[in-house]
Amino acid sequence: MSTEHGRPGHTHRAGSHDFTMPRWPEAVDVFDTTLRDGEQSPGFSMHRAEKLQLARQLEALGVDVLEAGFPIASPGDLDSVRAVAAEITGCRVAALARARQDDVDAALRALEPAAKPRLHIFLATSDLHLKYKLRISRAEALNQIVSMIRYGCQHCEDVEFSAEDASRTDRDFLIEVLRAAAEAGANVINLPDTVGYTTPEEYGQIFRAARAALASHPEVVLSAHCHNDLGLAVANSLAAISAGARQVECTINGIGERAGNASLEEIVVALHVRQAHYSAATNISLEKIYSTSRMLSSVTGVSVPPNKAVVGANAFAHEAGIHQDGILKNPLTYEIIVPEKVGVSSRRLVLGKHSGRNALRSRLDELGYSITDEELADCYGLATAQADAAKQVTDRDLLSIIHSVRRNRSQAFADQASAAAAQ
Ligand code: KIV
Ligand code: ZN
Repeated sequence: MSTEHGRPGHTHRAGSHDFTMPRWPEAVDVFDTTLRDGEQSPGFSMHRAEKLQLARQLEALGVDVLEAGFPIASPGDLDSVRAVAAEITGCRVAALARARQDDVDAALRALEPAAKPRLHIFLATSDLHLKYKLRISRAEALNQIVSMIRYGCQHCEDVEFSAEDASRTDRDFLIEVLRAAAEAGANVINLPDTVGYTTPEEYGQIFRAARAALASHPEVVLSAHCHNDLGLAVANSLAAISAGARQVECTINGIGERAGNASLEEIVVALHVRQAHYSAATNISLEKIYSTSRMLSSVTGVSVPPNKAVVGANAFAHEAGIHQDGILKNPLTYEIIVPEKVGVSSRRLVLGKHSGRNALRSRLDELGYSITDEELADCYGLATAQADAAKQVTDRDLLSIIHSVRRNRSQAFADQASAAAAQ
């Protein structure tokens, strides 16, 4: 945990503001699964070189665990995970395996060169999955979980177990599974909301019940893993952290199965901006968030929606005149974090039909034109007409507007002067 997060009373830092009272922040590990759960969605498949490029960036970003893939899925994925495991030393490298020996063996093979390997074993625990997907009983599931965790622990000292579809699992059975997984040796237990079904209140309750049930295993880290089918993945992850989760699983740009996974950048920025409220902090270098998001877009060819929180093109853009005026007077009026803090080079004051005179003057100033109030009045009329016609006023439009305003004004001045001379 970086010392930046570790000092009480340091929650009111430049670039963000949280008006609640500071408390000593708890460390929350960030488990990035962009290269595994993220990659599992249509259009996001990545080759070895692409995974390696992103893995280096994720390591620099400061993730604690980097899930590199699902080695049993294909020889190519095993090879990619192995390549990542061989190179990345700054964080743990995880490989996923179902609770089956061939899967676990493939994951172990891929993790062989890792400096800090994490074996990630999962099995569904909801009755729905047991009955229709796996066609096994609860007792059989429990046996499979325990025997594969024990087997994994013989070959890897860091073993995570995920109870797939935990949020729809019978609560008593889930508790039985957690206790058995902890007894078998899992040091991290993940409670995924696999289908994005839970709510913040409910997910928080699951974590509180799990923490209480594992009272005799305080060393076991509880992990949250949320999907975004109801748009609640980040809210659910934060609720889990409030209820005791000390690892959060997420992806860059929120990519992942169906509606995606919880977005890494949204979680870590929420924990940063509202640090006094959550009293939790991560090791993420916020300044590298934007470049990481851009790298993922360029590697996959999938762009980020403009209104995406933190990394979307409009996240730090202001068009409304009232907002622009506030931002020019004090950015805190309409921004909860300065763009530079997350690696965005500057905010944008977009000139459109909602913009005001103040923003227009400021942009012209940046373009090197210091203008009089009369020129501003003329420019504003022309810029508004242009915005009505074309939705936005570009710098090029502005240059042509200021030149034509100045031309017209000097022509009018010359006409007045010759009229006066002729009298
Ligand atoms: O969503 C899920 O349940 C998963 C597990 C394999 C961790 O991705
Ligand atoms: Zn998932």
